[in-house]
Amino acid sequence: MVAASKPAPLSSSNSAADLLELVWSQDLTRDHRFEPLEVEGTLPPSLRGTLYRNGPGQFGQFGVRYSHPFEADGATTAIRIGDGKATGASHVHTTAGLVDERAAGKLLYGLSVPWHKRIANMVRGRDKNTANTNIVAWQGRMFALMEAGKPTEISPDDLSTIGETDLGVIQGMFSAHPHRVASRKAIYNFGLQYGRKTKLHLYELPDVGAARHLGAVELAAAVMLHDFIATDTHLIFFVSPVRVNVPRAMLALGKFDQLFRWQPQHGTEVICVSIDNPSEVVRFTTDSFYQWHFANAFSRGKQLVVDYVRYSTFDSFYDIGNRAHGDSLGVEGKYHRATIDLAARTLRSEQLSDRAAEFPTVRPGDEGREHAIAYAVFDRMGAIGSIDAKGNVVAHDVPADQLVSEPLYVDGHLLALCHMRDRAFVAVYDAARIAAGPIAKIWLDHHVPVTFHGTFVGAR
Ligand SMILES: [Fe+2]
Repeated sequence: MVAASKPAPLSSSNSAADLLELVWSQDLTRDHRFEPLEVEGTLPPSLRGTLYRNGPGQFGQFGVRYSHPFEADGATTAIRIGDGKATGASHVHTTAGLVDERAAGKLLYGLSVPWHKRIANMVRGRDKNTANTNIVAWQGRMFALMEAGKPTEISPDDLSTIGETDLGVIQGMFSAHPHRVASRKAIYNFGLQYGRKTKLHLYELPDVGAARHLGAVELAAAVMLHDFIATDTHLIFFVSPVRVNVPRAMLALGKFDQLFRWQPQHGTEVICVSIDNPSEVVRFTTDSFYQWHFANAFSRGKQLVVDYVRYSTFDSFYDIGNRAHGDSLGVEGKYHRATIDLAARTLRSEQLSDRAAEFPTVRPGDEGREHAIAYAVFDRMGAIGSIDAKGNVVAHDVPADQLVSEPLYVDGHLLALCHMRDRAFVAVYDAARIAAGPIAKIWLDHHVPVTFHGTFVGAR
């Protein structure tokens, strides 16, 4: 068993480092249905819809802490905006695994249960789908995603958990990073399937009609793959040399971070798949690097241009697991623009800014086509801003007692969930005047742990 431990007591300094530790370790402090929220400033009348944010909600149970924040039970916080008012809800997903554990009064899954239980889970193919990373809306339905499981459908109305689904086509896992391509009127995603050979399955969720399995690409090894990016013609993967120790994972041996190994000698494999003909695959290996997230990609003649946040190593993963250094996501990640020459099978990557960046996004209409501006979090969640193709950053440095998360562009505004010591708020920025700070804040009266990703669903 992993020894029970409480988060280290925080100093009264309210420093950014203390706050970073808090958001990566402290459970959601209140679980509630939609209720009226206090609005500071004036909400733009054009802003109508619901912001959904997903991330860890519970970092342990029954006095036992999970071995890594990525094992946490997921929670969604949703803020509904309309007519200048707002309501909000926060809810830990009552996934099948969590319901079982609550009924049993003890942990049943993951790396913190006794050895014989891990074996039994492996034999029965049972694990807990934590639904803790992202939210995707599709055809009026909402799905909470984690990368090592299938989608968990939730109610968009009250966030209640409906249950896991394979959408009729998913084999193995479904990544937490689907990307929409507006010109194709579809969302694309991938899912890994480990086995004798590791398969990279490709999926399309069209705006109309059933989900489709587009095909599969065989990988040379069992890897960890967090995100990908799509243009209007290609699905693009940067397969970094993070190898999964499959026997260790199957047997749930050791701690979560021991399941992965950084093996830079293998390089990073670039895989570009034609959406119209998925058997047409260009793949080659380039220098080793790691990335969590992509901003966008687009075609330029016979080249593909890819904006992403690049890390020289996989160290950020281990830093996240070490709460004492839980501030490292974004420390060394730098915003890059890569140019892929499909004919020459080369990738050239240029760092656009020295500023540490993470959680990059673009305007929904820009996905898959050339964008002028991307948005991101900078400086260890200490600033939010835009970055252009020349690397010019316009940012708002948030006060030291606040942290800011992934910016989402909605109708001329940026929405970002911000964290304080005992409460959280959604900051509403004028996207054309980010440096001026938020024009409105929507307050939640409780702590919300870090949220990784989310989406905005406009009111119909
Ligand atoms: Fe992510």
